[in-house]
Amino acid sequence: MELDVEAKKVLLRKIPHGLFICTVREGDEINGFTASWVTQGSFVPPLVVMAVRSEGSSHGTIKRTSKFCLNVLRFDQKDLAAVFFKPQKGLGGRFESTSYSFGQLDLPLLEDAIGGLECKVVGSVEHGDHTVFVAEVLYAKLNQDVESLNLASTGWTYGG
Ligand SMILES: Cc1cc2nc3c(=O)[nH]c(=O)nc-3n(C[C@H](O)[C@H](O)[C@H](O)COP(=O)(O)O)c2cc1C
Repeated sequence: MELDVEAKKVLLRKIPHGLFICTVREGDEINGFTASWVTQGSFVPPLVVMAVRSEGSSHGTIKRTSKFCLNVLRFDQKDLAAVFFKPQKGLGGRFESTSYSFGQLDLPLLEDAIGGLECKVVGSVEHGDHTVFVAEVLYAKLNQDVESLNLASTGWTYGG
């Protein structure tokens, strides 16, 4: 029996997702993109799992630098999430919309976000149109413990 493509789409879209801005840095060049395919993968050590589109510009940066920062968005930061998934003129242009500082791994931490997790890549699976990165959380900065933004509340879909 063949895969029921419609059922697969409906069912995969039932997986609940948060919304994050994943920031990266290579030398002086910074970038960030909206990510939803993110979950925790281990308590000890603390691991996160994130799928990154192979054709995106951050994919190569993460592969080469083995690090990224997951900025957890506040419930009311949908507009900022939109800035970070739309195409940009030049790398780093998205950061004109928000203030940031650099964390322990020299990665951009968005000052308006709930906080940021600076992570070191410890493994990856390159298969399909996204690469699944597994990364250890090395540093965590909490700015404000408030409700986070989730994909369902935005009316957007990414999945299926
Ligand atoms: C709601 C939503 C969720 C997204 N989630 C992811 C994701 O989990 N992983 C990913 O690689 N791209 C995701 N994207 C797409 C990226 O944000 C988008 O391709 C971005 O332009 C990539 O930026 P870059 O090419 O500068 O890295 C998502 C887009 C939207 C609209």
